[in-house]
Formats: sequence, structure tokens, C-alpha cells
Amino acid sequence: MATVTPEEFQRAGNMDELLGLLGKAGIENGWAKREPSMYAKPKRNFIPAHWTYDVAKAALDAAGRFVNTELAERRNLILNNPVSGNFYPTVTTLVSAFQMVKAGELARSHRHTANALRFVLDAKPGMFTIVDGKKIPMEPNDVLLTPNWSWHGHANESPANGLWIDFLDVPLTHLLGPMFFEHHEEKVEHTDIVAPDSPARFPFTKTVARLAEAPEISPGRREIQLGDPALRTIALHVTRLDAGASFDVSPTTLNCIYAIMQGKGSAQIDDKTFQFVRGDVIAVPSSSTHRWTAKEECYLLRVSDEPLMKFLDWLRPVDA
Ligand SMILES: [Fe+2]
Repeated sequence: MATVTPEEFQRAGNMDELLGLLGKAGIENGWAKREPSMYAKPKRNFIPAHWTYDVAKAALDAAGRFVNTELAERRNLILNNPVSGNFYPTVTTLVSAFQMVKAGELARSHRHTANALRFVLDAKPGMFTIVDGKKIPMEPNDVLLTPNWSWHGHANESPANGLWIDFLDVPLTHLLGPMFFEHHEEKVEHTDIVAPDSPARFPFTKTVARLAEAPEISPGRREIQLGDPALRTIALHVTRLDAGASFDVSPTTLNCIYAIMQGKGSAQIDDKTFQFVRGDVIAVPSSSTHRWTAKEECYLLRVSDEPLMKFLDWLRPVDA
């Protein structure tokens, strides 16, 4: 950056000379910006997208032939939003990934400042996640939390592959800066404490029971929250939709990722329609209009940045 003296600005004879001097001084003018810094409503940087479980499972099975847990910290498939130039976030603040730990494998323990959770798809008895020195059973349709800086690793002591969907606020952490990560001194944190009732675990049986007691919020639709919120930056909601029922969601500033816990149906997100089944993941970026319809009874997990938007007083409707 060149040095520009006060005298040079005093000698500037026209706007072009002034702009030239500002450029040399490393200053951007605020009256004719290259791009507006404020606009009437949020820009749309991400698009609705759908990833199917059958394709992810086949891809993980293939990865299981070539990638072991010695080579990889995690054997996972990152669901990067398919907008040009993006290689990581699923929506602005969140990323999602399918992960597999094969029978008998260990995924080493580590911790990071990013908050994380997982939704279990396939697991047999003996599949554990180890969080802060406790072995938490992973059963199909469970949701498990690993908050900021908690140690976590995975141990598959079952005879079958374990497969789940991870959700993390890593894109938010990248944006704000405070990413820290370290490995545990043991490869996988050793413990004999088994904690099926850990507050970090939301067993599906309890989720189903709570939804059975929850009031209908629209015809055929009931909803509960897991945690309040589950993580400092991430809220989790489960919607039960009866066969044939549907509901609409107006556009807001919330960034959401949906995972299908159970059932079949369709999601219309803006102008795209996705047919979904259990294990699929659907990105619903902020400002999207969405309509969900159940062909058979559905349980939908919604992962969103609601606590963050509420804290900042930025949870607002957006004109479609
Ligand atoms: Fe992790």
C-alpha cells in the first residue's frame, strides 16, 4: 500500500484524482461502492438441495474399501451445498455429513470448539459414541450431542457397520474465527462407564412418546424440541406428520437442514420438489418457502441456527 500525504489529497482536482488517491491509500470510498453493503432483504447464497441415503450408503461402503480410520480422522461424506465455488457448508452456518464406522473400528477421540450432533441411521448393540469419558449407546434414530470442546470418539464393538448423519456449526466457527481442535492423548478415550441416560442422548423411543402427547399444531402435525436449545448455536425440532398431512413454512432468516428420521413424502422447497425417504438430508437455506407432505407417517428432524438468530434478534420473516 503506497503512502499518500495529506498534501496530495489537498491538491486533488477532481473526483477521479480523489478516487485514485484513495485507492493508493488503501481506502474504499463509501458513496459509490462496488457492491452495496446493505440491501432490503437477505441475499440468497445457497440453494435447496437433497441427498439420498441410498447413494450416501453406497458411497460410504465404497469408501470403507479404500479409507480406514488410521488414514482418516473421520470417514465421512460432506454435503456441500451445490452452488458454484462452494466446497463445504450445507447452509450458511451449518454443515452436514454422512459418516460410517465399520464393525470393530475405532474413530479416534478429539475435541473442537465447533458444536456437533449426530442422528443415527444404522447401529447394532455395541455401537458407542464416547463423550467426555462416557460410552453412550448409539441406537437407530437416536440424536446425540457433542457440545463445544467436549471430547468425543466412536467405538464400534458390534458386528455391523454404524452409520449416521453429523451436523456441525463449523461454517459459523470459520466465519467468526474461534476454531480450536486437538486430539486426545489416548487414541480413543478409554472408559468402562456406559451412560444410556446421558443428557447428551435423545433416544428415539422418548421422542416418539413425547410426540404422542404433544398437541396438534396444524391438522396431522405435531412438533417437539429436543433440548432448549440442544446446543448454544443449534436448535433441534422433530415434527411428526400423519400420512396424507402437509404443512407450509413461510420464508424466514433461519438456516435449516432436515433429516428424515422415518417415513416417506415430498418436500417442495421454492421451485424444487424432492421425494424423500428415511435417512435423506434436505438443505433448506434461509429465505426459502417450503411445503412438506407425508405419503406415510413421517418424523422429520429439523436442525437450525434458531438460537443464534434469536439471540441476535435476527429471526425475522422474509418476503418471498
Ligand atoms: Fe468431531
